[in-house]
Amino acid sequence: MHTGASILVGYICILPVISSYTDGWIQHVLLYLHALGVSCMLYLLVNPATSDNSEVDENEIYGLRHLLFNLELPPKTLWFNMGLWDKPGLSFPQACENLVHKVAQFINIKPMSSVLDVGFGCGDSCIVFAGKKKKTFTKEKKTNFYFLYKGITNELSQWRIAKERVSTLPSKINVLHGSADTLGKHVSSTFDYIISIDSAYHYNTRWDFIQAAFKHLNEGGVLGLYDLCIDPDLYASVTPIKRQILKLVCQAVHIPLENLVTPEEYEERVEDAGYKKVDMVCLDRMLVFGGLSQSFHTQYETTQKYGIGMSLSNRMTLKVSGFLFGLLATRSWLVPVLVKAEKSIK
Ligand SMILES: C[S@@+](CC[C@H](N)C(=O)[O-])C[C@H]1O[C@@H](n2cnc3c(N)ncnc32)[C@H](O)[C@@H]1O
Repeated sequence: MHTGASILVGYICILPVISSYTDGWIQHVLLYLHALGVSCMLYLLVNPATSDNSEVDENEIYGLRHLLFNLELPPKTLWFNMGLWDKPGLSFPQACENLVHKVAQFINIKPMSSVLDVGFGCGDSCIVFAGKKKKTFTKEKKTNFYFLYKGITNELSQWRIAKERVSTLPSKINVLHGSADTLGKHVSSTFDYIISIDSAYHYNTRWDFIQAAFKHLNEGGVLGLYDLCIDPDLYASVTPIKRQILKLVCQAVHIPLENLVTPEEYEERVEDAGYKKVDMVCLDRMLVFGGLSQSFHTQYETTQKYGIGMSLSNRMTLKVSGFLFGLLATRSWLVPVLVKAEKSIK
């Protein structure tokens, strides 16, 4: 399966060559044929998995249909960050929560402070931060109640679910629908901490967000991020053709090209935004991308084992994401980073 996916990625890489070196009707025909080829490959890539169904004994009365009755819906968690896989046997939700705890520890979030959580997804980080998970924030046996916890995210479907989920919690969490790109429009107050987990690389641009966040931090306040950088080795070897490929990939995954900088440049740009103490840690890509890739493969295999039917696009999501994160784990392309930036006290 890995070979199939490698061929697919290689084939997709032909795309920038077609768009750069052909034009007119030749380009249209080539693009059409390319799209057709990609569709066929994707179909072949995900279809062999259905062969497991051939093992089903047709004489069985029930088979595994009752699995549907037992699935817990909605799921208890709706995480979707890359996770931190630094302990054995972590499940996907545990690894995601682990990443959030890592950021909290890195920026040393103290109880009874105000927090703005930008790009909170379906609200899991809000629930963890504003919940009663004492070990994350302090060794003292005090409450972890955050007197002001606000979240902002841009996708309506996620915001709706998050709003519903946090409404039942004892802590007051205010979740807003809006974009990090227009922070000042949605938020008027200032905070002790602004966090953004696995999201800032999407902002248009991250640098504008970091500047806006500075204005919304109290003196001595801290910005804490889990984010992505480009690996210096890749950055140094960017040729015009590689740049075209990067541009296409970035467009496809909604990452503005300006956000792709090395950890060194990242630190400089955060300092330029006015932050005084800036601290960055590069995480082992195996412990982020590697774990995530493995978890996607395992999830895919489990769906097959239990006969859970999935749409083509869901199968693709698991298969192709598993493959791509596997590549990211072993190649010097991207660097996962933790960022802590403090606003000085005047
Ligand atoms: C990979 S998810 C991470 C979600 C969440 N932080 C977590 O740990 O599960 C990225 C999130 O960032 C949000 N996002 C992307 N661009 C955004 C923007 N401009 N403003 C606000 N949220 C944004 C997405 O909607 C998504 O919820």
